[in-house]
Amino acid sequence: MRYHEFKNGDRMPALGLGTWKAAPGEVGQAIEEAVRIGYRHFDCASIYGNEAEIGDTLQRLFKEGTVERDDLWITSKLWCNRHERGDVELAIEETLGHLQCEYLDLYLVHWPVALKHEVKSVSSGEDFLSLDEVPLSETWSAMEDVCERGLTRHIGVSNYSASKIAAHADARIFPEVNQVEMHPYLSQQGLVDYGSENGVFTTAYSPLGSKDRPEGMRSGDDPVLLEDETIRKIAERLGATPAQVLLAWALGRGTSAIPKSVNPGRMAENFAAASLELDAAAMGEINALDRARRYVTGTFWELPGSGYTVEELWS
Ligand code: A2P
Repeated sequence: MRYHEFKNGDRMPALGLGTWKAAPGEVGQAIEEAVRIGYRHFDCASIYGNEAEIGDTLQRLFKEGTVERDDLWITSKLWCNRHERGDVELAIEETLGHLQCEYLDLYLVHWPVALKHEVKSVSSGEDFLSLDEVPLSETWSAMEDVCERGLTRHIGVSNYSASKIAAHADARIFPEVNQVEMHPYLSQQGLVDYGSENGVFTTAYSPLGSKDRPEGMRSGDDPVLLEDETIRKIAERLGATPAQVLLAWALGRGTSAIPKSVNPGRMAENFAAASLELDAAAMGEINALDRARRYVTGTFWELPGSGYTVEELWS
């Protein structure tokens, strides 16, 4: 397994298990199976609505002595309706309560979008707060506070552009991780390079193309990444599966990846990709597939009157 080493020596396994779309009732068993397979990095978020079940499973595994808390890397994320200064600490405490852990390894601002306190999912422009009302710098300063209090060991962001990260130049703690959608159809090399040059480690979400993404995030002409002909041929050449090639590409270019699965066979298949190395020719062929194609477009933030636009979001 490759690791990303932070400045203080902490190490995050490059391959983790994603839990977005892992349904309550399934996710606990998936976590248990994943630990058995060897996964030690779990990517969670309050908005996924499944942290309490993950916490129950982890607690049981700790009690049984299957794994120790210190051997795991646990990430969670601050939802958009908790961006105001006074809300951040309460939000991480709630997540820690659900996960039944005393600390997180990494806490991320989930989106650079602020919602009213009582709004979880948006239905109108009225649901939003502007970034003038709740600046990202206010949210970040509260993130620094919870980090300094030891509630999380590291802090970062998600779905941020390079310019939004760069705006934290005067922060006490510069964002340590940016988690974004990333796969061969959306390779975002510029963002990865910005991260390497500025000490921001990049984690790829939807590394397999999230074919189980919600209906509202689909359109008729979406290409299916796992069925890509180039990927399929490279997989055949290497005696691997398309998913393994996608993950080996992500790890080979120095990012981490958090494929989601709740299926034991596919979880094991994905985990084995951590030992698969692609040669320069295969990496080059895959790099050439980039078409700046997002599956998670962010258009759901563009409701009339919200003040948020996709153009501004990714700029
Ligand atoms: P499942 O959970 O039934 O295994 P992403 O990580 O890009 O969001 O993709 C997750 C989707 O990919 C889910 O539908 C998941 O289904 C599926 N998936 C995960 N691993 C594999 C694999 N090795 N082969 C094919 N599909 C996979």
